[in-house]
Amino acid sequence: MHRNHVSETEMSRLLELARQAAANSYSPYSHFRVGAALKLTSGEVVTGTNVENVSYGLTICAERAALVSAVASFGPGIRVAAVAIANLNQAASPPCGACRQVLAEFILPDAPVLFPAAKGLSTMPFCELLPLSGDMQLK
Ligand code: THU
Repeated sequence: MHRNHVSETEMSRLLELARQAAANSYSPYSHFRVGAALKLTSGEVVTGTNVENVSYGLTICAERAALVSAVASFGPGIRVAAVAIANLNQAASPPCGACRQVLAEFILPDAPVLFPAAKGLSTMPFCELLPLSGDMQLK
């Protein structure tokens, strides 16, 4: 059985790409600039940033922006092998519940997710961020 190993070096590179994406954030309301970088099992890397809206509620988070971009570029068969999230505000930004649920559709359960936590960076396998997501199915 193949294991999804992503090296520290690759995670650092992914984090740097997430930081670069955060610099493109459209966040005139919160001024919270977030970037996300996804490594796909194909080896491709896709980034996204948060795009806010005057309605507030229609804001798209960096993680979902990256995921939608990955599908647009590489198709519906993509699998996410690792995620890095960064913000330029020196604050914690674990992926929100909505983004976890959307990621669940395409991510490997053991994919490492690196994010700014309350104290420094944290890395957790996706299945710990959203337990039981693999059990959901339509009958
Ligand atoms: N945001 C993200 O894009 N990703 C996260 O992980 C945390 C929150 C955005 C949404 C909104 O534009 C701003 O950050 C403040 O919540």
